[in-house]
Formats: sequence, C-alpha cells, structure tokens
Amino acid sequence: MANINDNYLKLPGSYLFAEIAHRITNYRKAHADADIIRLGIGDVTRPLPMASIRAMHAAVDEMADAATFRGYGPEQGYDFLRESIAEHSYAMRGVSIEPDEIFISDGAKSDCGNIQEIFGQDNRIAITDPVYPVYLDTNVMAGRTGELQENGYFSGVTYLPCRAENHFLPQLPKEHVDLIYLCSPNNPTGAAMSRSDLAAWVAYAREQEAVILFDAAYEAYIEAGNADIPHSIYEIDGAKEVAIEFRSFSKTAGFTGTRCGYVVLPKTVKGRAKDGRHVPLHPLWNRRHTTKFNGTSYIVQRGAAAIYTEEGQAQVRALIAYYMENARIIREGLQKAGLTVYGGVHSPYIWLKTPGSMLSWDFFDQLLQEVQVIGTPGVGFGPCGEGYFRLTAFGDRERTQEAVERIRALA
Ligand code: MLT
Repeated sequence: MANINDNYLKLPGSYLFAEIAHRITNYRKAHADADIIRLGIGDVTRPLPMASIRAMHAAVDEMADAATFRGYGPEQGYDFLRESIAEHSYAMRGVSIEPDEIFISDGAKSDCGNIQEIFGQDNRIAITDPVYPVYLDTNVMAGRTGELQENGYFSGVTYLPCRAENHFLPQLPKEHVDLIYLCSPNNPTGAAMSRSDLAAWVAYAREQEAVILFDAAYEAYIEAGNADIPHSIYEIDGAKEVAIEFRSFSKTAGFTGTRCGYVVLPKTVKGRAKDGRHVPLHPLWNRRHTTKFNGTSYIVQRGAAAIYTEEGQAQVRALIAYYMENARIIREGLQKAGLTVYGGVHSPYIWLKTPGSMLSWDFFDQLLQEVQVIGTPGVGFGPCGEGYFRLTAFGDRERTQEAVERIRALA
C-alpha cells in the first residue's frame, strides 16, 4: 500500500467554503423552496466586461482557422498580456517591472498555494489571523507546520493577530520569520495597509532576509485618488529585493469562473541555498511553472488583455463601482441596524462583529435558518475571527439590498 502525505491529516476536515456549501445543501434538503441569498464566498455576479467578451469571441474565431490556430502557448503567458500588465499595472504607477518578471496563471489562489514549493521545508512562516485559508493550509500540506492545537493554532507558525484594537493590521513579529504572507486590501477584514505600514514590513523583510508574499488580488478596490494606500508592494522602495506579488483578474474583471491571474517575481528577489549561496528565486519559479503548468488558455489571455484598452478600463471601473455601491449599502444598512461594521471601503468585504457575544458559526446558522442569508463565519479564517462575520459586496444589487433588509429585521 502506498504511503500518504501525513501532513494532510493535520488539516481540519474540510476547506472553509466547502463546509459552508455542505451546510447549505443540508438546509436545502429540508427547505427545498427556500429563497437563499448568498453573500458568503467572494464570487462575482456581474457579467464579464464587454471588451473581454469581444476579445474572447475574436480569439475563438482565430482558433477556428488553421492559419491562426494556436496550440500550447508560452507557459509564462503571451507577451501581449505580460507587456500590457507591465505597462498598465506597474509603469503607469511609476513602478518598473519587466514583462518577463510576470507569470500568467489560472488565478491567484493557485499561485498563493503553489509558491511555497520553491522554498525550503524549514522556513518559518508568518500569517495574519484571520487569514485567507490557502496560505496556511498549503504550508500545512507541505509539512512546514506542526500539529493543530486545541486553541485553533498550528504549532510552528507565527500568527499575527489582527483585531479591532490594531485596526486589523498585522504588527511586526517579535521573532525571526522567513516567509510573510500579507494581503492588502485584506481578505477577510477589508483593512488596507498604508504606505508606511507596508514600508515597515519591507524594512523588516530586508533586515531579516525574509520574503514577503504579497496578495494584491483586491487592489482595484482601493478608492481612486487615495495616494496613501499602495496598489503594489513595489511602490515601496526596496520591495523588489524582498517581495513576490500576486494579482488576479477574478475580482478586478469578473474572471472567477474564467480563471486568470499572475505572479510578479522580480529577478532581484533572492533566497539562501543550503550551501549558503544567495540564489535568485525567479529561475526557480520559472522552472516550477514551466514544469507543472502549460499556460493559461489563449482565449482567456486575450480576454484579460482587453481590460487594458480604454473601453475595457471604463468597463472595469463601472464593475468595481457597482460592487462598491453594494459595499456601501451593506455597511451603512448594518450600521443603522446597530451592528459594528468594518471594511467595505477599499475592499469588497464587510467584516462585522456578531451581535452580543455570539459565535461566528452560531450567527451563520441563525442567518441561514431565520432569514436565509449566507455569509462566512469569521472563525473560519482563524481564531481571531471568532465573533466576526464576513459579507461580500459581490452580489446582485437587489439581492444585496434584500439581504440587508432581512438582517436588519432580525437585529
Ligand atoms: C473568498 O471568498 O475568500 C474568495 O472568493 C476565495 C478566493 O478568491 O479563492
């Protein structure tokens, strides 16, 4: 019999969003006609930008003609997309990133999960608490942690508590860590790190020779004109030696089902080999990517590149404005109902304090049973999320309004 990877046995039974889906399925068995409103998983509901649709139709037509048909593309992505990203997401913000420092993928979830493969087993990781579960779970799978303890923490991991008292912003660890996962604007709390917050992390990473894994999947939600919240960690001096950035078209342009994201890995970021040499990480990631991935589909990359046209940019802005209006409706509606609410300003996530001292999963069950609204229990993102609850602004407008009314009626 083959041996298994025992690290998997350390993980709790199911992934957070799978557990939510399971509870909904059970509820549906007894209430087949229930009118459920889903503001749980951060999945978008608006159609793709028309510029992307048109570009994908044209790409399909190219595939229908032997003269323009494409088979395998470059694993790292087509130049037309990498160059557009380098220009629009970076150069236009004063950041110099070479197109070949950008690796196109099928989304930031895979990238955030896969990146740890190029790092040694003995690195100490730091994650925020609460946290997007993928960062932690993939390190558990890789054997980079100890066991899950009764207090909900894995041994061998440095947790950075993010609570209302510190505005849900991680503080620098007291001990040395090697890999630091940061997400800003944050999933799940919605908190956004300022330039000085991020500069402190970059300085820490440089001093400790650590690497920051920076998830910027929600950067498009930063309020336009706010100069104090960086869209990219590379806006901070010195970050190009210590940070890897993750971006996604999912939340920016509605690609959750279409799948496209990218990793930015500057050639100047280095790690240490066992023999003490300082080795650039770029070739390692390139090796991993080209070995395990055959490239994002040409059609999808054409759709992604279309968001950088003038028409595409206007459509993406409209999409984001739509969701941010939902965020305002949720935030203000729940505040009026007397709930304490955070996030929802530079972020599509609203992070609310459960009423009284209710536990997160109890609040989840109450909303499901009594008003048929789905959210995400804060404790699913880590022990510090206990007593909190996340709602997403990615719903349909009318359904979002209806959900707020239902929750207000309950309060
Ligand atoms: C979430 O709800 O946290 C996100 O949708 C998960 C993801 O992007 O994978």
